Amino acid sequence: MAARREKILIVDDEQSIRGLLRQVLAGTRYRCEEAGNAEEAVKKLEKNSFSLVLLDIKMPGRSGLDLLPEIKSSFPDTAVIMATAVGDTDVAVQCMKHGAYDFITKPFILDDVVISVERALEKRRLEIENRAYREHLEQMVEERTLALREAMGKIKLASLDTIHRLARAAEYRDDDTGSHIERIGRYSAAIARQMGWKDGEVEDMLYAAPMHDVGKIAVPDRILLKTGSLDADEWEIMKTHTIIGAEILQGSDAKFIQLAEVIALTHHEKWDGGGYPRGLRAREIPLEGRIVAVADVFDALTSVRPYKEPFSLGESLDIVREGEGHFDPEVLDAFFAVEDEIRSIREWYKDEEESRLRRMVAELQYANR
Ligand SMILES: [Fe+2]
Repeated sequence: MAARREKILIVDDEQSIRGLLRQVLAGTRYRCEEAGNAEEAVKKLEKNSFSLVLLDIKMPGRSGLDLLPEIKSSFPDTAVIMATAVGDTDVAVQCMKHGAYDFITKPFILDDVVISVERALEKRRLEIENRAYREHLEQMVEERTLALREAMGKIKLASLDTIHRLARAAEYRDDDTGSHIERIGRYSAAIARQMGWKDGEVEDMLYAAPMHDVGKIAVPDRILLKTGSLDADEWEIMKTHTIIGAEILQGSDAKFIQLAEVIALTHHEKWDGGGYPRGLRAREIPLEGRIVAVADVFDALTSVRPYKEPFSLGESLDIVREGEGHFDPEVLDAFFAVEDEIRSIREWYKDEEESRLRRMVAELQYANR
């Protein structure tokens, strides 16, 4: 395919000069149009796309000097060569500083005009190609970044999903809906946010807190599902779920699993030192453990357990409020400051509780056929 001939606009108030330039440039190589003043030039530039403008500096009305900035801003892909009288070379140099590609001096040496036009068009072509290449690179970087972000998002989702399933497996025997672990994550995140944790830390809490009881996987059914109270030996075994949970989670590079390890170990410690496994007191207990302690007790109170019926929401809140000796007072303050959110989390995950009850009834009906 033959290359399209490039279009040149010749702007000069003298018809004879326009004619001369046209004669030199037109023909097989370039298509030329003419304008006798700045206004006419603008009209033609708006109508057609020109590769190059040969622009006379001195014209009646708006000069080439006035027109140059407008061409550079409105038609940045158009090259401009200034045409000047011998005495105007200083002005022409100024024009080059303002974006003109070159200048030619009257009276013209026609070979020089052709060379100047060729050079300007070549420079323009390289600039356009460079820009296109740069834009292509930028777009590629953007696409790759997006793809990487999506891949990271998928990996994160997959690992969170796996972790939730691990937590759920550990809790499955006494909570087959998984709603307890969902609620613990959300209660704990709400308290942490209220206590001034940053967004990323709150998100870590949301994912870490559900793993608090992962060590229950090692507690035998006869203890975990016992309806009566535990004897001393059974209780000692039950307590080991904290240490075993921390052992399961230890050694991870992921920040939220490191957080989960601390939570698993410390969520049964009590503010007054009466908790387990280490009997830590007050601020010896890591804050994340103190937060999940409140969330866990509140959720246990509102839930059915093998050994108890649930308390109402109001009763549960009262019991937590009265458990001051067990809990960090600042965590309790934060918990009650977000009481509305806590209530709506409980409400939101109630459906799962109901569906679980419906499923239990269906299973019983099936067993009794
Ligand atoms: Fe626990």
